Amino acid sequence: MSTSKQPRTVLVTGATGKQGSACVHYLLHSPEFAYNVLALTRKRDSPAARRLLAREDSSVEAGRLSIVECDLADEEGMRRVFEDARALGGENGWFGVFAVLAYAGLGADAAPEEKHARMLADLSLTFSASAFIYSTTLMPGPNIADVRDNSHRAKYRVEKYCQSLGEHDLNWAILRPGFFMENFDGFLGSMAVSVLNEGMGTNATIALIASDDIGKVAAGVFNDFTKYRHKILCVVAECRTMPQITAAYKDATTKPMPAFSPFLTRLILKFNTASQNVVWQLNRNDQVRSDGTYPEFDEELKLGQEVCALQSFHDWTLNRTTPRTPSPSTAGGGATRDGWNNLSIWKFATGRA
Ligand SMILES: NC(=O)c1ccc[n+]([C@@H]2O[C@H](COP(=O)([O-])OP(=O)(O)OC[C@H]3O[C@@H](n4cnc5c(N)ncnc54)[C@H](OP(=O)(O)O)[C@@H]3O)[C@@H](O)[C@H]2O)c1
Repeated sequence: MSTSKQPRTVLVTGATGKQGSACVHYLLHSPEFAYNVLALTRKRDSPAARRLLAREDSSVEAGRLSIVECDLADEEGMRRVFEDARALGGENGWFGVFAVLAYAGLGADAAPEEKHARMLADLSLTFSASAFIYSTTLMPGPNIADVRDNSHRAKYRVEKYCQSLGEHDLNWAILRPGFFMENFDGFLGSMAVSVLNEGMGTNATIALIASDDIGKVAAGVFNDFTKYRHKILCVVAECRTMPQITAAYKDATTKPMPAFSPFLTRLILKFNTASQNVVWQLNRNDQVRSDGTYPEFDEELKLGQEVCALQSFHDWTLNRTTPRTPSPSTAGGGATRDGWNNLSIWKFATGRA
């Protein structure tokens, strides 16, 4: 394994959130390279930003982690963030960007998300980043015309945009994470379990990933960027049916996975557009993985899985129940404050984003 003493400067957006905070952690603890991390947040004294600093306090003391305050909507401010990042890194140290964009909500307008993602790609090209890693979502293959989630379609367009900038030397890599295991957490998680139990086909699988592992994969891609430049990686630990998921939970905790009553679940599925769309999307994703309309999936999955070991749902659940080595997410990191996939209970219950 090659070791370099030259610190690499990386800007992480969404740094106080689930994937971003995990990426910050794994970069700062990388055995391969030394990194200086600039963690972007809108509010440096928010509870999430303070948690991030507290968790990585040794890196803060060593001057290797700094909070950078800016809103992605502030284009001039973001340009200054890039200028400062390049100046801080110097000619050899300025290295790259991990771009995570917040989810606006089911059915919400994804135009700001798309605009901010394109801006980050543009700035990465302008400032000659050696690595621009854009985290999107698992796609249903190349045919996304009927996809119901605006954010999905926006992410796909931005993927294509990054690829087009690749012709002008943007050093991009794309991570397509599966369904976060954290989606099964808490009250909204119980609703998700019920809705997916009821709505998923008997043999249909969900592609699962712990958000902590997305950050780990991102750090691994930075470490070996030449290999992953201009590649798409699916970040999925395993594809499992709902019966397999609930059995794994029971095995890990000895308790049944919390869920709503079948009657309430059927009511939700009948009247709630948001949950209907999630079920539709996951069934669709399963279908394209098996019917050949997403032929690149296996190759992208293999690429993602070879970066580092990824936790199965069973082991992730076990580790949460009896944490041995607290990860950024189990240690209270990540922006779980807004509930399931950044949705409020009210939004989910009413189907309004
Ligand atoms: N949940 C799933 O199953 C799933 C699956 C695949 C992909 N995804 C995608 O994952 C992404 C969300 O990742 P996540 O869950 O890790 O994020 P998250 O925990 O929801 O955190 C959101 C982050 O975005 C930052 N942020 C929000 N608005 C901002 C703005 N205007 N300017 C600057 N920063 C801003 C927040 O920072 P501050 O609040 O500190 O400013 C926070 O760090 C979404 O794009 C979603 O589509 C989710």
